[in-house]
Amino acid sequence: MRVLILPVLMALFAFTACGKDSGQPTAETPTAAFSKPLIIAHRGASGLYPEHTLEAYAAAIDIGADFIEPDLVMTKDGVLVARHERYLSETTDVADRPEFLALRTIKEIGGSPREDWFVEDFTLTQLKSLRARQPRPGRDQSFNDQFSIPTFTEILGLVAVTNQSGQTLGVYPELKSPAFFMSLGLNVETALLEALETAELESLGAPVFIQSFEPDTLRRLNSQTDWPLIQLLPNTTPEALSPEDIAAYADGIGPWKQVVMQFEGGPEAYMRLAREAGLLVHTYTYRADQIAPGFETFEAELQSAFALGVDGIFTDHPAEALA
Ligand code: G3P
Ligand code: CA
Repeated sequence: MRVLILPVLMALFAFTACGKDSGQPTAETPTAAFSKPLIIAHRGASGLYPEHTLEAYAAAIDIGADFIEPDLVMTKDGVLVARHERYLSETTDVADRPEFLALRTIKEIGGSPREDWFVEDFTLTQLKSLRARQPRPGRDQSFNDQFSIPTFTEILGLVAVTNQSGQTLGVYPELKSPAFFMSLGLNVETALLEALETAELESLGAPVFIQSFEPDTLRRLNSQTDWPLIQLLPNTTPEALSPEDIAAYADGIGPWKQVVMQFEGGPEAYMRLAREAGLLVHTYTYRADQIAPGFETFEAELQSAFALGVDGIFTDHPAEALA
């Protein structure tokens, strides 16, 4: 499937920040413009294009996704950029770039040593010279080495021009490894809030959710911003993490879909626990080429999530989810 991404990108390049009168959804009613469940384009329309590129986000916008979802990490010189991992070899051409050989090093990732190139060792100028690649072998490789890594500011520009054009579009940034970056003196939390404020999204009517796996980051953000916060949950339940504790600083949870489906009391009980604490539930990640066990088709898996009443889903395939 191909979608027309050119018009949106052209609009982005013509973008100049300019606030508009309000009257659109605000931080208090972030999703009033959308029907439920929210369709969140995970890493952009990443089933079609290399993830976390402006082209992948623009495709998701053309498709009509409610939100685009950038994962955010930070360069050596303090610029938020979109990558899922701190290491770069799987989603860029860095390994084929001899000028960066000296930056290859061994660091700990997820408790294990990994030899790779890491975003925090690259300046923005260096990072911008890399080109994105499709990390999943089963997906279209024909766009490899064409697109660059976008900054968060560039992504927000895309969100702004889309809303200015009359299409309501939200952005759902995730801070990746914020404690690690803060330990380097790279304040990703402040950078995130400053970028959102500069983009004047509230006055444009662009909804925002901020997500992270790290509770301490969300607790700090809760005292600094009114944008709704989502606590991501890798493999725990609302009960294990205490939904009431989460509700003290966050507006919702983002659980791995299998945790919900395999919850001891059943997925309905999981939803009930979240609801009793007043938490939204946005489940991840739905992939047409990686259907969960127990489902014959992607449509059946999606229908199951929708029937459960989740408030939103993260999906690599927003066109199928919208359909
Ligand atoms: O942010 C929701 C989902 O994306 C979390 O998983 O690892 O794909 O960022 P991950
Ligand atoms: Ca994410």
